[in-house]
Order: sequence, then C-alpha cells, then structure tokens
Amino acid sequence: MMKKIMRTIAAAAIASMMAGHSAQAASVGVEAIDIDFSFEGMFGTFDRGQLQRGFLVYKEVCASCHAMSLLRYRNLGEPGGPEFTPEQVKAIAAQYEVQDGPNADGEMFDRPALPRDAFVSPFPNEQAARASNGGAYPLDLSLIAKARQGWTGNLATAYTTALWKGTGGPEYIYSVLVGYADAPNGEEREGLHYNKYFPGHWIAMPSPMTEDGVEYGDGTKATVDQQARDVAAFLMWAAEPKMEERKSLGFKVLIYLFILSVLMYLTKKMIWSRVEH
Ligand code: HEC
Repeated sequence: MMKKIMRTIAAAAIASMMAGHSAQAASVGVEAIDIDFSFEGMFGTFDRGQLQRGFLVYKEVCASCHAMSLLRYRNLGEPGGPEFTPEQVKAIAAQYEVQDGPNADGEMFDRPALPRDAFVSPFPNEQAARASNGGAYPLDLSLIAKARQGWTGNLATAYTTALWKGTGGPEYIYSVLVGYADAPNGEEREGLHYNKYFPGHWIAMPSPMTEDGVEYGDGTKATVDQQARDVAAFLMWAAEPKMEERKSLGFKVLIYLFILSVLMYLTKKMIWSRVEH
C-alpha cells in the first residue's frame, strides 16, 4: 500500500517537473551559445572586473532603453557584486537626477541621485517606453537573466546541463546580442530585425552593440563579443546578487552534514559494541 502511494507521488512529481520544463523550453527556440562563465558550477564566483565592465556596457549602451529598477546604486558596492568603492558608487549615482520632495513649500524638486536611490529609468512609464520604440517594450532587465533559459532539449539533458552550467539565461542574453544576421531568405520586416537566437527570430530591438562601443577602464578591448559577455554576466549578478553567498553557505552545509554523518557512525559503533550480536 505504502509503496503504491509513494509510486503515485513520484510519478506526479516527475510529470509536474516535465510539464514545467516543456513550458520553459517552448519559450526558447534555439539552443544558446554555450559560454564558460566564471560563476558556473558549485564553486563558481563572479569576476569583479567583468561585472564592472558589464555595468559600464549597461550604463552606456542599454540604459537608454532598458530600466533596471530593482537595483539601487549602493548594490554596486556590496560584497559579491561589482564591488565598486564607496566613492565610485557615490560618483556613479551623482550622474543621475531624481525627483524628491515635497520641500517646506510643498514643491517637488530635482537632486542628484544618492547611493540609496533606485536606478533611474530611461522612461517615466511603459507607454513612453513603447512610444519611443515603435510600439515594442524594452523590458526591465533587473531579472531577465533568470527569466530566460538558454537550453532546449529533453528533460534529462536540460536538467543535467542546468546542474553544471545554470539555466543558460546569461548565455541567451549573450546569444541575442551577437545573433543579428541577414534573414536566410533575404526577407525584411518593417521595424523588426532578424536574430538567430530570439524566439521567433524577429526582434524589435536594433542591434545595440558596436565594436569599441564603450571604453573599458581596465584596458580590455571592447569587442562586440567581449561587451556581450560582460553585460550578460552583469545581468546574471543583478538577477541573483546573493549567488556567491548561497554557494558558500551550501558548501558549509555539505561539510556540516559530512561531519555529522561521521559522528553518527562512530556513535552507532560505540553503542553496538557493547551489545552481544
Ligand atoms: C534602442 C533601444 C534599445 C537598446 C539601446 C537596447 N535594447 Fe534591448 N530591447 C529593446 C526593445 C524595444 C526590446 C523588445 C524587443 C521585442 O519585443 O521584439 C528589447 C529586447 C531585449 C531583450 C529581450 C529579450 C526577450 O527575450 O524578451 C534583451 C535580452 C535585451 N533587449 C537586452 C539588451 C541589452 C543587454 C542591451 C544593451 C547591450 C539592450 N538590450 C539595448 C530596445 C533596446
């Protein structure tokens, strides 16, 4: 009886996992280009230099269309992220203006942004964002790296891939950024651009990347490929700012469980050594 119940529960669990998975896989048409990011795997950590470069790409290239309203400037200085110094964070924030108030006269006023402020959005609302982009919506990028998957395929391969390489969100972003091409049959569509990796292939975003589109402070050459990798890594951090903390905690828990098992084993041996058997 118990066995039967367990079997039913297991079958239901697998079925629900498969249902969830096929729904995700359907949102991605083409397998993304696999990149070996430093933050993959059980011990993977972000590359600070890459996160700082990725922020620069977001700021100089993407931020004219895409908001990242879940981030605050101070997050850029927190451990596990780009780790800009407090002075750098203040200087970055001060480049933006935010509305504050009301003051003693009941009036709203503009002031330079402070580290505690949220990232300033390029448009005041969705309608304005659409109006500037031919009706298409440049979505908020705060969580995009977790909202998209890069791998297709059946349950077994997609899950084992995800175990080692993550779900491929940053790879998907990278692939879309470098995936612009001429449509195979020479077709053109008004206001849309052919992209090998965007589901459905026709995307309203014009290719945002240009060779040397930014100037990196650390001397890295700003190829399109490099910028796409860096901004994809930055967006992964933005979507999971506590990734490094999570991984190191997970590792400590494993060590703890290991030591506990050894102690339990020794205890068991000691207790049973006194029993005739
Ligand atoms: C000129 C405005 C503009 C710029 C600059 C821009 N985007 Fe976009 N982006 C858009 C629009 C509009 C869409 C919506 C496209 C659509 O729905 O077809 C979009 C869509 C996307 C998507 C969509 C994917 C999806 O799966 O829904 C990603 C990822 C993305 N942009 C990333 C970026 C990154 C990263 C940058 C900077 C390197 C950038 N964009 C720069 C306008 C822009």
